[in-house]
Amino acid sequence: MADQNLMEKIVSLAKRRGFVFPGSEIYGGLAGIYDFGPRGVELLNNIKKVWWSANVYERDNYYGLDSGMFKNPRVWEASGHTSGFSDPMAECKKCNTRIRVDKVLESVGATADEKMSEDEINELFDAHRAEIACAKCDAHDFSRARKFNLLVKSNLGDFTSEGNEAVYLPGEACQGIYLDYKNIVDSMQPKIPFGVAQIGKAFRNEISPRNFLFRTREFEQADTQLFIKPNENKEAYEQMKKDRWNWYLSLGIKEENLRFKQHENLVFYAKDAWDIEYKFPWGFDEVEGIHDRTDYDLSQHMKFSNANLHYTDPETGEKYIPWILETSMGMGRAFLAVLVDAYHEDELGGETRVLLRLSPKIAPVKAMVSPLLKNKPELVAKAREVRAELKRVHPAIAWDDNGNIGKRYRRQDEIGTPFCVTIDFDTLGETPELKDTVTLRHRDTGAQERLTIAEVAERIRSAIE
Ligand code: GAP
Repeated sequence: MADQNLMEKIVSLAKRRGFVFPGSEIYGGLAGIYDFGPRGVELLNNIKKVWWSANVYERDNYYGLDSGMFKNPRVWEASGHTSGFSDPMAECKKCNTRIRVDKVLESVGATADEKMSEDEINELFDAHRAEIACAKCDAHDFSRARKFNLLVKSNLGDFTSEGNEAVYLPGEACQGIYLDYKNIVDSMQPKIPFGVAQIGKAFRNEISPRNFLFRTREFEQADTQLFIKPNENKEAYEQMKKDRWNWYLSLGIKEENLRFKQHENLVFYAKDAWDIEYKFPWGFDEVEGIHDRTDYDLSQHMKFSNANLHYTDPETGEKYIPWILETSMGMGRAFLAVLVDAYHEDELGGETRVLLRLSPKIAPVKAMVSPLLKNKPELVAKAREVRAELKRVHPAIAWDDNGNIGKRYRRQDEIGTPFCVTIDFDTLGETPELKDTVTLRHRDTGAQERLTIAEVAERIRSAIE
């Protein structure tokens, strides 16, 4: 399957089956904004639950947080985002298409360092202009590159009054964790090392949103920030990388589709940075960043707010500014990686079928219940009873009595439902020894077996746990 083709198939399935819709579609859309549909929100929430469980419930020293999106404008000065959070942009003089200069330079083997000045970037850009054509009109005539700040501005309160300054939407969700670090220390009395986990929205004025959910202007980040003693970063950082790698495997993602990549050019806040990359249809690309942020963040916030953010060791009395190790996963990117990894086409019963081999843990629907025939009230009544029974195991048990049974199975395959349960006349006792048994059909193999309702409930329970 050609990879471009695969991406188109996934985008089409996502819309057709209610996973992801283009934002504001009836108005012609809005670049870089997507909505999660009824099945998408289930899958998304399931990924979040697995993440929360691994990063909060399964650890003794991690605390959850949900901080407000708007923050005092000083926060983004302290964090370095108002001055340092920008991408170099240029415009095609012929068709006005905007390009990210660092990305096009990368495609011709040149590296625009994060720390380069505008002049230095332009020097590099000039040296490669002949090799860079506009993707839209093929012209080689671009404007000078300029740094374009990615923060999205907004207003709060009476924004018509003079002197009322703009506020920013969060450029990265983790800042909320640094602002509440002191409150967490005061209210929960954690001992270092301790971590804070949060899933929060982030907004970036991306110059060229692309690749579906991969580069959007509004997205969610699932972050953990581990507060550690200065210079005690090495071992904890390696452990963090291992834990995050294993988390993707726990979602059912194939290990050969993952890799680590160390950053050569460090973003302004990081001393060391590694990405976990997934093999998307266009190649390996970043899903998560794991950063050693040292004491950069708390020192900056101390300087700008005058708050005392030192930690005092309760046993030794030692005082220090904690260092921070961060993991930051793009939720939309993880969602896309899950879809790409799960998408399969195979042959079953002489026909080609599309299926999502989603782990039952995160599948939006855990099982579909179906009466063999919808015009037989006794079958329908029994099937409803079975559905109610299975809903006690998990509420996401679907109902489908439309069309022939093969078509119903195919529809569920396409949305990744691991099990289908069919109620027939034997369930009602036509063959006495089969009374109260049902057909359980497995998504990945198409295999079917005859089980009691209690056995089916147990299969579902153990698959999703
Ligand atoms: N707090 C650290 C931070 O924000 P980052 O590498 O800029 O680091 C972390 O972002 C993760 O957020 C990335 O690995 C990526 O998965 C996701 N992300 C960043 N920009 C994104 C965008 N425009 N659209 C979707 N996800 C994005």
